[in-house]
Formats: sequence, structure tokens, C-alpha cells
Amino acid sequence: MDNNETKLNSSPIGFFDSGVGGLSVYSVFRKLLPNENTIYYGDLKNMPYGNKTKEELTGYAKKILNFMASKEVKAVVIACNTSSATVYDIIKNEYNFKIYPIIQSCAKVISSYDVDTIGVFATSATIKSGAYAREIEKYNPNIKVAGIACPRWTNFVESSLTDSEECIEDIKNKYNEIAAFNPRKIILGCTHYPYLLHNLTKFAPEEMFIDPAKIFVDYIKKDLSENNLLNHSKNIGTEEFFVSANPKEFKKNAKLFYELKNIPALID
Ligand code: DGL
Repeated sequence: MDNNETKLNSSPIGFFDSGVGGLSVYSVFRKLLPNENTIYYGDLKNMPYGNKTKEELTGYAKKILNFMASKEVKAVVIACNTSSATVYDIIKNEYNFKIYPIIQSCAKVISSYDVDTIGVFATSATIKSGAYAREIEKYNPNIKVAGIACPRWTNFVESSLTDSEECIEDIKNKYNEIAAFNPRKIILGCTHYPYLLHNLTKFAPEEMFIDPAKIFVDYIKKDLSENNLLNHSKNIGTEEFFVSANPKEFKKNAKLFYELKNIPALID
């Protein structure tokens, strides 16, 4: 292995999301690839992403990707369905590192499930983009995809209100809406929604819900390996966390998926 290869292999992998949601992917990644050096960026200042325009979301993503470029990352994981749905096609060729979008990376596996109807809970922007239906139908046109926007759920998670009456009532209403399509599986199409699983299972069994995190991380691992980008170091990888607002809240709300050792750095 030459020196250049060693430097690139040990370069960090960046992750971003509007807030703690992407940690549902990040935590699986750290378990599966503990030797990688990682950087996580939570854009709490602009959260929730789900009700923003494509132009706004493109601006946020470019700013974060430029920050990741300054950190000399070897790859960036878009651990955010909303950005994957709306921005990935615009920015995918603009950087000299690999970019992994969650929806496009998971669609092939999800489309191989033996089901005729799949429901998607996601943000308004993701549902409006039609990205899940488009990507799944690309591989399997026989699956019907029905999406329901859940515009309040990100805020319930970021405000520690997942067990409030208001949140449970909203989950019940959204579940009734999606149940009308008789879905065989329901994708949690926003990285914040696995934080609501303990309440979603009040209305349907856990096997009904697909959290794409594991599928996504398996895909990333395989792709890094095929491109000779894995870190071969035996040491546990370093971690850096950044947020654009509310560092203490981030650390507190992250707990369910990932215990941060320190309060993240504030950078905008
Ligand atoms: N967690 C993100 C997603 O997967 C964005 C949620 C939001 O900020 O509205 O879509």
C-alpha cells in the first residue's frame, strides 16, 4: 500500500442531518466499522429540513459539504432522507469524494422484499419529491408505494416530546391514514422516526416497520470495501461532532441512539 492510499484510507467519513436523526444511521455505522474516523454535523439551526424548499436545502447541503471538504473527508453520508430526496441529484458530481444518499442506497434491497404495497412515513419535502416511490419502482415496478407526510415528528424528537399525548395522538392519526392503503411494510423514511418506534409499535407490530439504517450501513461498507477506501488501522476511530445551534440539547436528545462523550462544537 503506498502513502497516498494510506492517507485516504485513514481520512474521516462525514455524516450530516438536520439534527439527532442521522445518529440512527451513525450509531449502526460505528458498531459495524469502529475503526473509521468520523465527523458528524447536525444542522440544528435550520431544523426541521422537512418543510424547507429545494433551494434552501441545497444551500444547507453545500455549506456542510464544503465544511466536510475542508476536513479532507474521503466520503460523506447523507444521513438525511430529505436531503437525499431533494438535493443529492444536484450535488452528486460537485465534490471529489464519495457521497452516499440514504434513499437511493437502500432502494434496491427494499424493492426485493416480497410485498405488494409499501407505506412511507417521511417529511413533507421527501413525500413531495416522490423519491421513495421512484427509486423502489426503478427496481420493482410491481410494488405500490404510498407516502404520508408527518411534518411534526422531527420536532417531537428534537424537543424530547416523543411520549407526549400530542405526539402519540399524531402518530395514531398518521397510522390510520397509512393503514387505509393496507401496506405490508412501512418505511421510517426520516432518520428521526426510529426514535418514535416505541410508540409506533402501539399501533402495529415492530416487524411492520423498516428502519433503513442497517441496510444503508451495509451498502456503505460494501462500497467502501470495493473502492479500497476502508481504514485498515486496528485502532478505534476518532470522532468529532459539530452542530450549527443548541449543542447541549443535541447531546441530551442524542442519548437514545448515541452517547456523546462531550458537548459538540458549535460551528455555522
Ligand atoms: N432527519 C431528516 C430526514 O431523514 C430530516 C428531518 C427534518 O429536519 O425535518 O428526512
